[in-house]
Amino acid sequence: PQGAGLKILVADELAKEGLELLKESGISFDVKIGLKEDQLAAETPNYDAMIVRSGAKVTAKVMENPGKLKVIARAGVGVDNIHLPTATAKGILVLNTAAASTLSTAEHALALMMSLARKIPAADAHVKSGPEKWSKAKYQGTQLAGKTLGVVGMGRIGQTVASRAIAMEMTVIGFDPFVQAESLMDGKVKMVRDFDQFLAQIDVITFHVPGGEGTKHLLSRDRLFNKCKPNLLIVNDARGEVVDEFALAEALAEKKVAGAAIDVFIKEPTPADHPLLKAPNCVLTPHLGAQTDEAQTAVSVEACKAIIAYLNSGEIRGA
Ligand code: MLT
Repeated sequence: PQGAGLKILVADELAKEGLELLKESGISFDVKIGLKEDQLAAETPNYDAMIVRSGAKVTAKVMENPGKLKVIARAGVGVDNIHLPTATAKGILVLNTAAASTLSTAEHALALMMSLARKIPAADAHVKSGPEKWSKAKYQGTQLAGKTLGVVGMGRIGQTVASRAIAMEMTVIGFDPFVQAESLMDGKVKMVRDFDQFLAQIDVITFHVPGGEGTKHLLSRDRLFNKCKPNLLIVNDARGEVVDEFALAEALAEKKVAGAAIDVFIKEPTPADHPLLKAPNCVLTPHLGAQTDEAQTAVSVEACKAIIAYLNSGEIRGA
């Protein structure tokens, strides 16, 4: 029978819909979550395929002796938890689910933007703290209509955020070194080539880039302190390294920028002494961009389908 003798390792928690597909496929699979690097390295050679989210770190060491491992699927977009040079060197195919979580992540970025502009988390905590100090003035916010949003990374998620921001009557400009066009989205989003000139024009910034060396500290200390408008609201739903987190905490304290809403951190879970935890006008969430019922079902189903197709017929989906 098809799939006989093949084995899949599911190394992170996956929505049940994908696991159902694995069962139906007849390919045997084991779910082993929370393995440390040594444990994952020891398991790897026994499997033809591996499915991960962001928890499992598929390092060079994990793939050092790949045994029969042929393919890894990332149920999600970012493959930064998989050491790609080693995967390539060992002939292991890496797949992702590029589009399955686009809408949810875009909606989360917009939710962060609005929470920040209208101080929703702080106002919520205020009401719940009791009636004695009831204050409206303290929670006066900023209207987004009429403001300029800068979208960094005009891929699927960036464009989805941009279209919704335009519907909210924001002016949207984009920055993306991979886009040659002067504008995108039927001319509605003007592209700016120079990042500092881009910063000089915007009231809100949102990041939708993959992370990695090329995007590290795009918001550096120098830019946070010297190049951003002081009213800037910063949204990061991409990867922690895009913003210098420590400089950001200082820039917020010194009012060099007005606020930040951050979903992603260099180190997750965020350490208890991280300076952003105490920074003023800062909204934090624990990497929730793709954390909806819909997106988690979709990434699980897409990743499992891609693995089944590859193991059964060599068909490549989502490379
Ligand atoms: C992704 O890359 O898909 C997102 O960061 C979400 C996640 O890691 O779960």
